[in-house]
Amino acid sequence: MKHIHSYYTPNDLYNKIINGLKKLGIDLADVTPDDLQPVDEFHIRGDAATNELIALSHFTSNMHILDVGCGIGGSTRRLAHEIGCRVTGIDLSDEYIDVAQRLTELLNMQQRVKFHACSALDLPYADNKFDGIWSLQMNMNVEDKLGWLKETCRVLKPGGRAVLYEVCGSKNTPQYFPVPWAQDSSMSFLIPPEEFREVITSAGFDIEVWNDKTDLAKKAFATVRKPVGEPNLPVLGVYLLVGDDIGTKAYNLHRNLDEERVSLIETVAIKPKAS
Ligand SMILES: C[S@@+](CC[C@H](N)C(=O)[O-])C[C@H]1O[C@@H](n2cnc3c(N)ncnc32)[C@H](O)[C@@H]1O
Repeated sequence: MKHIHSYYTPNDLYNKIINGLKKLGIDLADVTPDDLQPVDEFHIRGDAATNELIALSHFTSNMHILDVGCGIGGSTRRLAHEIGCRVTGIDLSDEYIDVAQRLTELLNMQQRVKFHACSALDLPYADNKFDGIWSLQMNMNVEDKLGWLKETCRVLKPGGRAVLYEVCGSKNTPQYFPVPWAQDSSMSFLIPPEEFREVITSAGFDIEVWNDKTDLAKKAFATVRKPVGEPNLPVLGVYLLVGDDIGTKAYNLHRNLDEERVSLIETVAIKPKAS
């Protein structure tokens, strides 16, 4: 797990984001979630996907939601902003959690949005604590998927909903590397959608929604070409989180999608009410 932690530890990330905002002429006193979107929603289709997931969630303002593998908290904050609920985000990366907290303070959302650095496999919370679970594109880095999902199910209240948006394997192997979530195959643990579905139910959930979003992912990456020469990077982008080779990573993701080596699944799983 150590190499996964160091992959997601970019160094001085908060200042890089602040400098980016300044370069774009954004007044730090008036920063909005939309201003941060290019850098803080680190999943396929960014806030468009987040908004679709919010619509599926049925979360309400009186709820407390756990975001598992929250990164620097973009969709954590968006969820709190759109629904009005409390959200706690956890992530393996201490630096991401530090940045998540500081960006949340910048947006003055710290009353409702909190963060904690820990592993998704060992959550420091009591059984049945949270009203809902939100977890976006983290499973790729987790080898023990049953352990992760059992732990997630444990902290969710009976009847609660878990919204998962995850990259899976597909018909063909191996995948091309590097990709946005992994520099090489030692950090990436993809299983095909059917297997992912079985692990979710083995962990104790019932599946309510199961949507294959691979075609939308393919469209989003359709125009990505193999990078040549020096990278031409925007002022703010997820390259700040995982490196200047983001062009190669995006190109490999495009190839993996097109050649049916990866797929993208959106699902809502429910913890059954105790009988
Ligand atoms: C591709 S990013 C997605 C971040 C965020 N969910 C988003 O959509 O912006 C994957 C995240 O999973 C986190 N992660 C990987 N393995 C983890 C684990 N075992 N426990 C907690 N977080 C983990 C990484 O640190 C990283 O922030």
